[in-house]
Amino acid sequence: MSNIIEGYLGVTPDTRKSRLPARLDWWQSATGLFLGLFMWGHMFFVSTILISKDFMYQVTRFFEGSFIFDEPKPILVSMIVFIVFAIFIVHAALALRKFPTNYRQYKIMKTHTVVLNHDDTKLWFVQAYTGFAMFFLGSIHLYTVMTQADKIGPYASADRVVSDWMWPLYILLLLAVELHGSIGLYRLAVKWGWFDGKNPKAARKRLKKIKWAVTVFFLTLGFVTLAAYIKIGIEHKDNYGERYHPSKIVKMPSCCLHQGGVV
Ligand code: HEM
Repeated sequence: MSNIIEGYLGVTPDTRKSRLPARLDWWQSATGLFLGLFMWGHMFFVSTILISKDFMYQVTRFFEGSFIFDEPKPILVSMIVFIVFAIFIVHAALALRKFPTNYRQYKIMKTHTVVLNHDDTKLWFVQAYTGFAMFFLGSIHLYTVMTQADKIGPYASADRVVSDWMWPLYILLLLAVELHGSIGLYRLAVKWGWFDGKNPKAARKRLKKIKWAVTVFFLTLGFVTLAAYIKIGIEHKDNYGERYHPSKIVKMPSCCLHQGGVV
């Protein structure tokens, strides 16, 4: 009965305001924070190709459990992707509550943005559009790497980017995720007042500068990395499907060793 009252009136049976919306907002922030920070890590791992093919190969092997198992275990990567995919879907479902539910609402929000000419409201729209785009672009990528986790590496990734035509999707996804992620982390910091200190107004100005610096940094890193995969993919076109064999074994720090000292 109480759920029906709360569902229809948004208040609990004893007429107190329902805490559910605030709880859902908290979970949207928590999943957003996780995905935002995950993407920073992800971009650094994917961009190891800029250091060398050998290094990207070793990082891939590391995620396949080379520090424990003799044979690579791509299933470990599939499991990580499955968890990230689940959090991605929960975050998207929670965000749906904020989307305009009809054209009238959309028009009101749009007019609001123009009339107020408020930067953060405009950023909200960029986040809504990029979030919508990632419903599709992100899901394609996540499903692909989850089901083809054994095909990650200097040649396998480059073949997917060029010969499997993933580069157009990656260009759009890179733009969407970097804008969405950095705006999201900025809005979280403002919403929860993490860096407010004594002068929240000055803190917000500073945060906005940092937000744009982070956006430019990760977009630059992302496009340079994508260019590297495209270059390798074009050179490797005739040998599509051939796997990369490291020219030399990179000595991993002792913490990542299993017996014998070499990965
Ligand atoms: C655990 C989950 C994930 C794994 C294992 C993963 C793995 C990879 C790998 C191996 C690449 C290199 C290209 C390739 O092999 O096809 C890549 C590229 C990329 N991924 Fe992911 N990814 C994950 C999650 C995500 C998510 C959630 C997003 C955004 C919603 C994302 C966005 C991208 C983008 C934009 C690129 C292109 C990189 C660039 O342009 O430099 N990835 N990912």
